[in-house]
Amino acid sequence: MKGVGKFGEVMAGEKGKGSYDDVAARLEKIIRSGSQKKAITDFVCRELRKIPHYTWVGIYTVDGQDLVLASWSGPSATQHPRIQVGQGICGAAITEKATVIVSDVNSDPRYLPCFINTRSEIVVPLLKDGVPVAEIDIDSDQLAAFTPTDKTFVEWVAQELASVL
Ligand code: SME
Repeated sequence: MKGVGKFGEVMAGEKGKGSYDDVAARLEKIIRSGSQKKAITDFVCRELRKIPHYTWVGIYTVDGQDLVLASWSGPSATQHPRIQVGQGICGAAITEKATVIVSDVNSDPRYLPCFINTRSEIVVPLLKDGVPVAEIDIDSDQLAAFTPTDKTFVEWVAQELASVL
């Protein structure tokens, strides 16, 4: 699946106007640039955060039974730079090898609190030959922020990124 021209939705917010396709085009370019992994994951976090309802974006890599924060972009650092695979929404996405969307974090017992303003969360695993190697974790200050477009879009980013990590 090609990113450019695929997602179609325009978004507007405090951070200005843009579209998922604009973000996808820039992501595709950097992911395929041959840059170092850390430079790529840093860029991906910064770029994804331009989407108005993506308040905090992090990329965790799988390290044995732990998830280790590789890159992040957001208003503040998380208290969870290392999470056990059995814990949190982050752990659930790895165990289930599937995207987890939580519309209201305060009503999900798996949720590991990080930021006082977070209301909803999406976690998308990066699979290599069916094995989870990393994940993209996005928090939103809005309740039920993540739509089917977000799911398709972030899964596309995860697939692109998995090919170079
Ligand atoms: N809320 C996550 C923990 C990571 S922070 O959001 C950055 C979870 O429940 O796994």
